Parts: sequence; structure tokens; C-alpha cells
Amino acid sequence: MTQVVRYECRDGIGVITVDYPPVNALGAAVRSGLLAALEQGLQDADARALVVTGDGRTFPAGADIREFGKPPVEPFLPDVINAYESAGKLTVAAIHGTALGGGMEVALGCDYRVALDSAKVGLPEVKLGLLPGAGGTQRLPRLIGADAALPIIAEGNPVPAAKAKALGLVDEVVSGDLVAGAVAFARKLVESNAPQRPLREQAVKLDNPNLFAEYEKSIARKQRGFLSPFRCIEAVRAATELPFDEGMKRERALFMELMQSSESRAQRHVFFAEREVAKVPGIAKDTPRRDINTVAVIGAGTMGGGIAMNFANAGIPVRLLEVKQDALDRGLAVIRRNYENTARKGRLTQDDVEKRMSLIQPTLSYDDLGSVDLVIEAVFETMDIKKAVFKELDRVCKPGAILATNTSTLDVNEIAAITSRPQDVMGMHFFSPANVMKLLENVRGEKTADDVVATVMDLSKRIGKVGVCVGVCHGFVGNRMLHKRQHEAIALVEEGASPEQVDKVIYDFGLPMGPFAMSDLAGLDVGYRIREELRKAGDPEAQALSWVDKLAAKGRYGQKTGAGVFRYEEGDRTPRPDPEVAELIAEHRREKGITPREVTDQEILERCLYVMVNEGAKILEEGIAARPLDVDVVWIYGYGFPVYRGGPMFWADHVGVKTIYDKVVEFQKRLGDSNWKPAPLLKQLAEAGKGFYAG
Ligand code: 3HC
Ligand code: NAI
Repeated sequence: MTQVVRYECRDGIGVITVDYPPVNALGAAVRSGLLAALEQGLQDADARALVVTGDGRTFPAGADIREFGKPPVEPFLPDVINAYESAGKLTVAAIHGTALGGGMEVALGCDYRVALDSAKVGLPEVKLGLLPGAGGTQRLPRLIGADAALPIIAEGNPVPAAKAKALGLVDEVVSGDLVAGAVAFARKLVESNAPQRPLREQAVKLDNPNLFAEYEKSIARKQRGFLSPFRCIEAVRAATELPFDEGMKRERALFMELMQSSESRAQRHVFFAEREVAKVPGIAKDTPRRDINTVAVIGAGTMGGGIAMNFANAGIPVRLLEVKQDALDRGLAVIRRNYENTARKGRLTQDDVEKRMSLIQPTLSYDDLGSVDLVIEAVFETMDIKKAVFKELDRVCKPGAILATNTSTLDVNEIAAITSRPQDVMGMHFFSPANVMKLLENVRGEKTADDVVATVMDLSKRIGKVGVCVGVCHGFVGNRMLHKRQHEAIALVEEGASPEQVDKVIYDFGLPMGPFAMSDLAGLDVGYRIREELRKAGDPEAQALSWVDKLAAKGRYGQKTGAGVFRYEEGDRTPRPDPEVAELIAEHRREKGITPREVTDQEILERCLYVMVNEGAKILEEGIAARPLDVDVVWIYGYGFPVYRGGPMFWADHVGVKTIYDKVVEFQKRLGDSNWKPAPLLKQLAEAGKGFYAG
């Protein structure tokens, strides 16, 4: 076995180096290595102080998350840190990269901390549904005061070196050779007879006596449904109220409670899923990528403008093409307004606004697109128009350019087939607003080449998106499942629920808004117009108007008209129940001969969510999504599915696939096949007593 922690003596200072790629996580081998190296350093008569550092890209970035949920292996991290804190020699942490979680706690166990100017430190455990469990909640408040420590622990955001220095979290910031800097710092300490500074012996400073109550109130809405931020508050409060050892016991108890919680399990699942999703099954890691240095976007409407901004934000020049000058001017004006708004909020300088605008080069001519590496089409959602655009692209684009469509419903294979190079065509389905939403469904057509998929997946990350590779079908993964849920939500109201009851159940489950608030935001007219076309064309399924279409037919399009399923007051996005809508729904029920019944919250939850799980299973079976984690990531980043539930498929395992399947069968009997035909995969897993993940 290679040595994961090594020891050497440099200029009279012992240097302990963790070498455990990729992020020097504090797994069992590293923990015992740290103890052994400490022992060696203490026994080394030449070493007058000890420096602890990480090799490669970072100081330890935390406990090894892969060990969580497995039987604990000694030595435990808190004991290792105690050993450093009570060592008979001065200890200095030398930090580069990201000293996070358990890594930061190791640094807090040292007497002093030196950081490279580019380093970041932090306690992000809360984002995994945990709290710092190796003394972080007790030592950090002793170092920088409870008021400054609380947000660092309860929000988990990394602190850059300069700010850490200002807070007293690190003692010295160096540039260049970190270890040399830390060794020099340690020598100075020794020469000046600097004392050891075990944090356990310090008192905790608390400036604001109402800190905890005020802070809890301030995060209540944003952290709704999460458990760990509130436990973090308790742990820091313990630091201010209890002696160190008692505080450590409290921290441990809270940590263990969180470790067992379904919230943390889900959040840890999301951590790995978010990384796993980038690795597309069947596409080799070493697949060559195509260079993407310049991009073109076709259509400067709602989506095209937002898409162009993503590239400008990443410093990639974009050609923005429209058919008419006025549409181009309008599109550019919207982009500029968006940037100016961000600048007004202080999140962008005026200089940056101009730089980004200059990266977006307008054009009316396809002949300007000959040299671009990638084109994303975002014109009207009409097959004939898309085909005409792709014919032009096929004519002007250089060989090897990637041709992508932002279509949300059309067949990517059909679009690809109009070109002479279907291997270069794929879907890049952005979500609105495209410059904000993190999800990008990358749609792989039947003929899309592997290197095109690999390139687009990499590019997603480069422009700050979470890319998920999906296959071709109506609505892809996200909207296909959403559509099923919407159908149920509408039916539930028809049967007797109110729109506000349905929305409240989904909101309370943890989504940012209910199905009807969401349709009011997107606009009821969009779906209505599509169904109107189908009705006119004589589609038998589209003949009967739903109560939502009846609202749209009255010009109630949602937020943009001040009224939809809910009503809105001027300048306020709060959905308010509207008696006019209640009357329209009552009339609709009378017309259909429906006697409204009491619908329970439980039924709303089951029908709105189980229908999605069942559709998710079909999506998996058809290979539209390769793994359950792809579906989960789509719903977390595209629709705000609560992270502490892990995504619809992870949540399904938590509920029990068998429980869901039994209900699906019951709903099928009562409500028919169209929405409730059980997915064979769901049946198979239920009968085998398995889950989507738990094999
Ligand atoms: N344990 C195990 N594996 C980890 C890990 C950890 N703490 N942190 C990162 N990794 C793995 C990732 O899964 C990934 O593996 P892969 O290549 O097989 O997919 C690899 O390391 C590289 O990670 P990233 O792709 O995320 O690399 P980046 O350079 O983008 O980011 C990072 C590096 C900022 C360190 C980021 O990985 C990160 O935020 N990691 C988690 C840090 C964290 O949450 N630490 C706290 C852990 S809990 C704890 O310490 C409890 C303690 O209080 C007792
Ligand atoms: P939009 O109507 O706001 O913008 C379309 C733009 O394309 C208009 O500016 C129009 O002038 C331009 N255009 C039309 N034909 C053109 C052509 N032949 N050449 C160049 N430009 C042309 O529409 P929106 O909402 O931006 O939608 C664009 C695409 O994005 C559609 O395929 C839509 O399905 C998809 N989409 C829309 C989402 C949304 O929420 N609006 C979400 C995800 C995808």
C-alpha cells in the first residue's frame, strides 16, 4: 500500500503531508497516517514545530463521505484532532485549495494556520445535511466568536483566504511556495517562544445575546424543510453555554442524529449524483472533445437571449442571429437590461456589462456563421421553421461544428435528418430563464456521435450548468413527468379539491411552488394554444376543454395578465384565490355532472407524485434516462425538487416502491389507464422487494 501520509524534517520543522488524491479526504488510512506521522514528528528531536499540509490540489477537503453509513473505523477523527491539539510541539496548518469540513477541523486542531492566497476554508457539512462533527462547532466559535462562526457553520459557504485572515480564522496569508512559507512562519514562532494555543482552552465570545433566535428566524423560510441548519444553531449555542468537553458531546449527539436522518441521506445522494451525472454510461472517459471557442445562437427571443448570455458570462464570443433587425434590436435590449439590473444590484461592474455585451455580436446573415464551433437554435417551436434553419446551418457551418436545438417538444431525430450530418446534431434543452436555471437536458439523438455528447456535457459545466444526458421523447425527462403531474392536479380540482389546496400540498412537500402557481408563471396560454390547434385539427382527445383551458379562453393567462388560476395584485407575485375561478370550476363540474367530494391532502400528494415516479420508471425502461440519478438531478435542478428528499426516484425508495406500486394499481382501477398504467419496471421492482437504487 502506498503511504498516504508522509513525514519529513525541513529546516528544523517537521512537515506532515497528506497524499490521498483526489481531495485528500480523511478516510481511515489518512486518519491513522496522521496519527503515525504526528508520533514521528514528536519523536524527531530535530523538529521544533510541526507543519501539516496536503499534497496535490488541496488541503484535506473533509471526511471521506464514502465512509458515511458504514461501520465506523478507528481512529476517529475527533481523537486524531485532539491528539494534534494536545501535542507537545507547536502545530501549524498550511492550507491550499479547499480546507473543508473535517479538513478545516484538523486545521482548527492546530495552534496556527497559514493559507495560500488562493485558498478557501469552510465547514460545508450543512450542505450534506450534517454538521461539523469533529469539533468544528466548538472550536470555530472559540477562535472567531459565535456571531461570525454561526453563518459559516449553518450556511456552509467557503471563506476566501483574505476574508479568513480578517476574521482571525487564519493567521497568515502567503503567496508562492506554501510549505516554505509555513515552515518559515513556524520557525519564527519557535524563535519568539510563541505559546501553543489549544482552542479548547479559549472562552467563546458572544456579542449579540439574541444571536440564535434572530438567526433562526432569518433562515426559517430559505431553509424550510432542512434539518441540519437548525441543528447547527443548537451546536453553536452549546459552545456558548457548555464547557468544551460537554459541548463536544452535544456536537456528537447532534451529528449522529443527522447522520441517521433521511434528509442527510438524501443530500449525500445528491452530492454524488451531481458528480455522477456528468459521466454518461457508454461514453468512454477519454473520448476526444471538440474545441468550442465560438458559438452562435439562432433567435433572440426569450430563450435565445438567455442562452447567449450564458456564453458571454463564460467569456465565449456568441453570434446572435435573427431574421429581422427590429427583433434583433429587441433581443439585445432585453439582454442589456438584464445585465444592467444585475449591475444595479452590485453583482456586476459596468465594465463587465460592456465586456459581456461586446461578446454578443448580432447578425442577420447565416454567412457570418461559417467559423463557429457550436450553434444553438432557439426559434419558434414549429417543425417547418426549425427544418429551414437547420438546412441553412448545414449549408454554412464548417464540418465538425455541433448543431444543437433548444426545442422542448419536437423530435430531435427528425430535425437531424434534414441535415447531411445527423451525427453532429443534438438537443440542448435550456430551462427558462435560460441565464438563471441550472439544468440543461442534453438530448442525444439516434445518430449523435459520442464526441458530440461528451463535448456538450463538458461545455454544460463550463457555462455553469448541470448537464444531464437524455434521449428523444416528447417532453424529454423533466416536462414529460411534469405533464403527468399537471394532468392529475387538474383532475383533482375537477373532483373536488381547490387549486390552493393542491398547491399547498406540493409546496409543503418542499417544492418552490405548487402546480397552478407554476402554470400561472409559465403562462396558461402556451398549452391552451397547442390544444386549440389540436382541437381545430379534430384531435378527439383535445375536444373537451379542461377548467384551466376555460380560464385561458377568457384571457386569464397567469401572472402576465394579472390573473390565471389565481389572481395577482399589481407588482406582487403572490397567488391569491379568486372567487371568479371557484365559480368557473363549480360551473365546469356541473356541466360534467360531477358532484364535488372531499379530497384529502394525502390523496393529492400520492396522485401528484406517484404519477411522476411511475412515469420516471417508464423513462428508465425506455432508456430516455440512463439511471435513476439522472431523473433525480433533472428534477432537483430544473424544478426545485427538495434536495432533502433526494429527487423523485430516491424519494420513491424512501416511501417504498411496493407501496407506490400498490397505489398506482389502485388508481389505475379507479382512474383508468391513460395516466395510471403501471410501468413494468415499477411492477418488477415492487415484486422483487427492490428499490430504484437499493438493489
Ligand atoms: N469524500 C469523498 N470523496 C470526495 C470528497 C469527500 N469529502 N470530496 C470530493 N470527493 C470526490 C468527488 O466525489 C469526486 O470524485 P469522482 O472524481 O470520483 O467523481 C472527486 O473527489 C473530485 O471532486 P469534485 O469533482 O467535486 O472536484 P472539484 O474540484 O470540483 O471540487 C471540492 C472539490 C470543493 C473539494 C468538492 O469536491 C467538495 O465540495 N467536496 C465536499 C467537501 C465537503 O463537503 N466536506 C465535508 C465532508 S463532511 C465532514 O467533513 C464531516 C466532518 O465534520 C466529521
Ligand atoms: P420566442 O418567441 O420568445 O423567441 C423566438 C425567436 O426566434 C423570436 O425572436 C423570433 O424572431 C426568432 N425567429 C423565428 N424564426 C426565426 C428564424 N427562422 N431565424 C431566426 N430567428 C427566428 O420563443 P422562446 O420562448 O424563446 O422559444 C424558443 C425555443 O425555445 C422554442 O423551440 C421553445 O420550445 C424552446 N423553449 C422555450 C422555453 C420557454 O420557457 N419559453 C423553455 C425551453 C425551451
